[in-house]
Amino acid sequence: MSHDGAQPGATGLSAGRASSSVATAPEGVAVALSVRPHRTASSGAPDSPAAASMPVTGALVDRYGRVHSDLRLSITDRCNLRCVYCMSEDMTFQAREELLTFDEIERVSAVARSLGVTSVRLTGGEPLVRRGVEDLVARLRALGYDDIALTTNAVRLGPLARRLRAAGLTRVNVSCDSLRPERYASIRRRGDLATVLAAMNEAESVGLAPLKVNVVLLRGVNDDEVLDFASFARETGRVVRFIEFMPLDAPGQWDRGQLIAGREVLERIHAVWPIEPVDGSDHVAPAERFRFRDGRGEIGVISSVTEPFCGTCNRLRLTADGSLRNCLFANEESSVRDALRRGASDHEIEQMMRRAVWAKHPGHAINEPAFLRPHRSMSMIGG
Ligand code: 5AD
Ligand code: SF4
Repeated sequence: MSHDGAQPGATGLSAGRASSSVATAPEGVAVALSVRPHRTASSGAPDSPAAASMPVTGALVDRYGRVHSDLRLSITDRCNLRCVYCMSEDMTFQAREELLTFDEIERVSAVARSLGVTSVRLTGGEPLVRRGVEDLVARLRALGYDDIALTTNAVRLGPLARRLRAAGLTRVNVSCDSLRPERYASIRRRGDLATVLAAMNEAESVGLAPLKVNVVLLRGVNDDEVLDFASFARETGRVVRFIEFMPLDAPGQWDRGQLIAGREVLERIHAVWPIEPVDGSDHVAPAERFRFRDGRGEIGVISSVTEPFCGTCNRLRLTADGSLRNCLFANEESSVRDALRRGASDHEIEQMMRRAVWAKHPGHAINEPAFLRPHRSMSMIGG
């Protein structure tokens, strides 16, 4: 069942339709802005997914043939910021004993590795508020993960970057929603832009490049910075990715009118600096990638709401308190922590993972009338 009616194939858009106030739109320049096939996994495949039975050996595969090779590990629900689109001022955090220990995270990660998972991403909350993250990175490296990424607000990244890199971290995404100091402070409610920009430099200087920069756009709040961020990408070589606001904010105030669709972002940028899709763009990655035609830099859009990419999703998530989730928007999860603390074997953990992946829906249902928000917000799941 397709919930977005998306058809495979290219969608041509004319930059002349750009809705922004930018006056320099090259008239009638057509650009294929999306070539992503199968936005939602098809449930009508000939090998009838409903009838198939869950494999008990081999890779982590779901009913729709999606092979899961990416594990998102949230290591804390805490954060040193309180971004308006994510947290409320008065968040309640989980008690320390509720969280998985590094030993437990290592155990689950080892099982995942044995099932063909090759990439791991540390998220939060803010992962760097947890002490000893570099030790965890080293343990993951020792398990054979050769792609170890981190999503961070970078408040603590500067002093830690070198140690993280030495421990085996390979990639960093920094969230940064404004390039204007006062606005940065008002969106994030704490922290300061200068520290974050300095941390980006530091990360690059220790070899964590190219850096990705995540920007959540909110209409009327920071969407007038689209071109500033595009210019930032061109000047710095950092890959700026514009993320659509998702209904995962703790205050529960999400409304569709606030999000800026990825397509609108592309049109606004294309009107000033023409862009084109990056060939061979990794169809598994959530971001659709575009390069500037003049060769200076790259941007991406993560259109989770308006153009879901569920059809190629290869991610399995583990929350900081040890629940397996097969989707950001899942309403079911299973506690590996409880199983581990009852003395579960690796084989039982493996079966839990297989069941979680097998139960995955073809796509999230944000755009359906019956959409039910998950009871956890983003910082309690992991981005
Ligand atoms: N919608 C979209 N993105 C969000 N993030 C946090 N909350 C939301 C939301 N409701 C982003 C963060 C970070 C990444 C983990 O997810 O800014 O870049
Ligand atoms: Fe913290 Fe990230 Fe949520 Fe902002 S978006 S409050 S940095 S977890």
